Amino acid sequence: MEKTLVLIKPDAVAKHYTGDIIKKYEEAGFRILAMKLLRMSQVLAKKHYAEHVGRPYYDDLEGFITSGPLVAMVLAGDDVVAAVRKLNGKTDPKEAEEGTIRKRFAASKSRNAVHASDSQANAEREIHIFFNEIEILD
Ligand code: CDP
Ligand code: MG
Repeated sequence: MEKTLVLIKPDAVAKHYTGDIIKKYEEAGFRILAMKLLRMSQVLAKKHYAEHVGRPYYDDLEGFITSGPLVAMVLAGDDVVAAVRKLNGKTDPKEAEEGTIRKRFAASKSRNAVHASDSQANAEREIHIFFNEIEILD
């Protein structure tokens, strides 16, 4: 089954939205194959957000994503990469559709509650930054 990597970002964990956000994914019918609470290092942030390193917002993004605990999860389901991106909503909550996670839980374009992989290739790459094979209950 198709897999994707989701992060519940430090802003959402700090606001105690973790359970409500997981519930959205479960209600949508996705299976949780792996899950952990961790704090990302700067090295891990640069690996995960490699394509963003050097962009004007990168230093702020790295400071934010390493600022506290986050929840990393592997979700599985039909067309899960696209379906989770849709459920998360647009990057900027001001543009996110009603019913999306970012519309409900994101504070701003930078503090936007969740991450999800944007392609199957990136999902494979990102999943293995956070999880090894024995941690993925496939
Ligand atoms: O997360 P998503 O794939 O929707 O957006 P992205 O364009 O790949 O950007 C990755 C993350 O960088 C965003 O989710 C924001 O947290 C952050 N970002 C930002 O802080 N300011 C921007 N102008 C663009 C992105
Ligand atoms: Mg992205």
